[in-house]
Amino acid sequence: MSKEKAQRLDKVLANLGYGSRKEIKQLIRQGQITVNDVLAVRPEQHVQPEQDVLTVCGEVVRYRNTVYFMLHKPPGMISATEDTRWPVVTDLLSAEDSVFDVFPVGRLDKDTEGLLLLTNDGVLAHRLLSPKWKVDKRYRATVEGQVTEADVAAFAQGVVLDDGYKTQPSVLEIVTSGPVSEVLVTISEGKFHQVKRMFEAVGKTVTYLKRLTMGPLALDETLALGEYRELTDEEKQQLFAAVRLIGETSK
Ligand code: URA
Repeated sequence: MSKEKAQRLDKVLANLGYGSRKEIKQLIRQGQITVNDVLAVRPEQHVQPEQDVLTVCGEVVRYRNTVYFMLHKPPGMISATEDTRWPVVTDLLSAEDSVFDVFPVGRLDKDTEGLLLLTNDGVLAHRLLSPKWKVDKRYRATVEGQVTEADVAAFAQGVVLDDGYKTQPSVLEIVTSGPVSEVLVTISEGKFHQVKRMFEAVGKTVTYLKRLTMGPLALDETLALGEYRELTDEEKQQLFAAVRLIGETSK
């Protein structure tokens, strides 16, 4: 027996972005909506959206209640769903996608760009952010100052931040080193301004920061700044597996 809760037809379709409840009512009146091959006549009819086959204007409705978007976050936007002063990343969603009430998984600073996952899957978000699952995040950074092998060793040991916290070991790779250096950094934590503060701890300043990966998820470089797309089924599977949401072990 399914435990799925029956929901009002107009609510289900409105949540999926087929229009306002008023518009759905109109479509029902026009005979444009079917439930299991039977014309719908009442907006308040209850359906089980994961089982019942709904059509709107002859097209089968693809039911989703959780969605996963990969955003190439541009600088200048806050990683939040609302802010009184600045534009927020969810402003970038189309009206159709806004109905899912997604939120960003973790924060990138306003001036940081790169991979940001937006979802309404609270369980996945919680695990990706929890220290328990040690999800690696890889960043590319431009750093004012010469990054050296001593810094690589310090990052590998863990560095002490301005508030006295000692970071977990992280991997620092030098791409170019000079008065301005280019580096790749992989950290498994997500403390406030962590990468910038780690470089401050070794006397250097990050002037550009871009997140490239989060666990198994890599930024799709075909996405321009500000563009987003849904995760592929494969990306979703990999992400769930990384935090044991599929193939759960007895761990
Ligand atoms: N570390 C930072 O300092 N800033 C970010 O946005 C992400 C990681």
